[in-house]
Amino acid sequence: MKYGQWLARPEGKYPQLEGLDSVAARSRLESVEVPPLLGRWLPPEAVEGLLGAYGIPVLESRFATSADQAVLAANELGYPVALKLVSETITHKTDVGGVYLDLKESDAVALAFEAVSAALEKAGKLEEMSGVMLQRMAPEGIETFVGITQDPSYGTLLGFGIGGINVEIWKDVVFRVNPITDVDAADMVEGIRGVKLLHGVRGRKPADREALADALLRVGRMVQDLPEILEMDINPLVALEPGRGVVAVDARIRVKG
Ligand SMILES: Nc1ncnc2c1ncn2[C@@H]1O[C@H](COP(=O)(O)OP(=O)(O)OP(=O)(O)O)[C@@H](O)[C@H]1O
Ligand SMILES: [Mg+2]
Repeated sequence: MKYGQWLARPEGKYPQLEGLDSVAARSRLESVEVPPLLGRWLPPEAVEGLLGAYGIPVLESRFATSADQAVLAANELGYPVALKLVSETITHKTDVGGVYLDLKESDAVALAFEAVSAALEKAGKLEEMSGVMLQRMAPEGIETFVGITQDPSYGTLLGFGIGGINVEIWKDVVFRVNPITDVDAADMVEGIRGVKLLHGVRGRKPADREALADALLRVGRMVQDLPEILEMDINPLVALEPGRGVVAVDARIRVKG
């Protein structure tokens, strides 16, 4: 019966996506000097450029390599800010004490910079620290996860689920083979166990599910156009309330070496 229902459902379309610049994305990707050894994870500016070229909103960030630079960057962005480790090798920043949130003034930024450096030094990994990034605190919303992986049998798989630092615990992710149609994208959003979170529960506002589906189509299109991408994830992709869209707060992309 389930198979029958699946056969009977509308197939959907591969919709035209607005505000997408695949030429800019291609030249952005080609202009990156991927560090040869450690490499393959693109630097944050390149990740932001690629997402931007596919019309996925990204939270603005600034790079800094000293406490003074971090304070200047934070002053420019405006408070409160987040300060986070930038490293070519360490991709899970929280695990190494590399994420400080809701810093309200310059002294807190300087202290956070020193704390991140000290944590890495203690772990014997100070050399792996390229610097830090500063971001404004993201607007309130629901944290989701969007990612892709290359499967030897199925090809590119697109995943969507509940995001945040605990994704590995919830394991609430649905997958589809890319490319996906608009019906697939909406099904993915509605298909996670925690979908009620997106509909708004316990006084929390619902999430912009249309914008989430749109972001899935855009990520799918990006990895189709740029087959060098082996792996990527946006976690969290914060879903704001309906009509206000989504914003990528943390993203990483690994390309062929
Ligand atoms: N600018 C920001 N505004 C608000 N919250 C933020 C911001 N940056 C990070 N966070 C919060 O901190 C968490 C961890 O940050 P981030 O995802 O950048 O680091 P991470 O440790 O590399 O994550 P992961 O390895 O799980 O992808 C996010 O899930 C989010 O809840
Ligand atoms: Mg993250």
